[in-house]
Amino acid sequence: MIELAFSILASDFSRLAEEVAIAASGGGTVVHVDVMDGHFVPNLTLGPPVVKSLRAATKLPLDCHLMVTNPDTLLPAFADAGADWVSVHQEVCPNLHRTLQTIANLGMQPGVVINPATPVDTLVEVLPMVHHVLVMSVNPGAGGQSFIPRSLDKIRHLARLRHEQNLNFRIEVDGGVAHDTVGSVVEAGAELLVAGSAIFSPGKTKQNAIDFLATARAAALLKA
Ligand code: DX5
Ligand code: ZN
Repeated sequence: MIELAFSILASDFSRLAEEVAIAASGGGTVVHVDVMDGHFVPNLTLGPPVVKSLRAATKLPLDCHLMVTNPDTLLPAFADAGADWVSVHQEVCPNLHRTLQTIANLGMQPGVVINPATPVDTLVEVLPMVHHVLVMSVNPGAGGQSFIPRSLDKIRHLARLRHEQNLNFRIEVDGGVAHDTVGSVVEAGAELLVAGSAIFSPGKTKQNAIDFLATARAAALLKA
């Protein structure tokens, strides 16, 4: 099922609850929360206290993308704050299997993320235990970057593995997904579509979400 996971990184943080409601009114069904620690990526964003406030403001799933060096120590705090989905980067998890198990044991849906330079093959052993695989189509750290076209091959590769192994993880893509790229992303096999700068814009957010989803769903129909 095609879903828009709108990235609040591009929203007006002073009006966060309202921004989420507007993106949802345009059809967005997942709140993508970019957590950056100033270490794994240079930027700093937000953490569990903001997730807790978001939890009170929406019933939509909170999809927490942890761009942090030590995710293990933060997982209980995200669970307490009300996070629904938590994804960790393969690049910083030497005990990835255990980390994913911990996320599940805390009652959240585990996801794994790969950077543009990380091959899909590094995930083979954990695919049966994840709710979603997040393919970064830009280098993490900031919104508004250009989509890296080779990400399409990685999405196709994951879709093939899922089919061959009869698995049911969802394929999410994040970075530079916008009106001009979303069609090829959907055609390649992704269906959880993260978008920030393509959605949030003062006065235009609702219509941007509507148009984005229309383009994505048209591509999905063509593929079917
Ligand atoms: C990048 C973040 C993305 C980002 C997407 O590090 O993980 O979620 O906000 O932003 P756009 O859609 O503007 O590329
Ligand atoms: Zn993200």
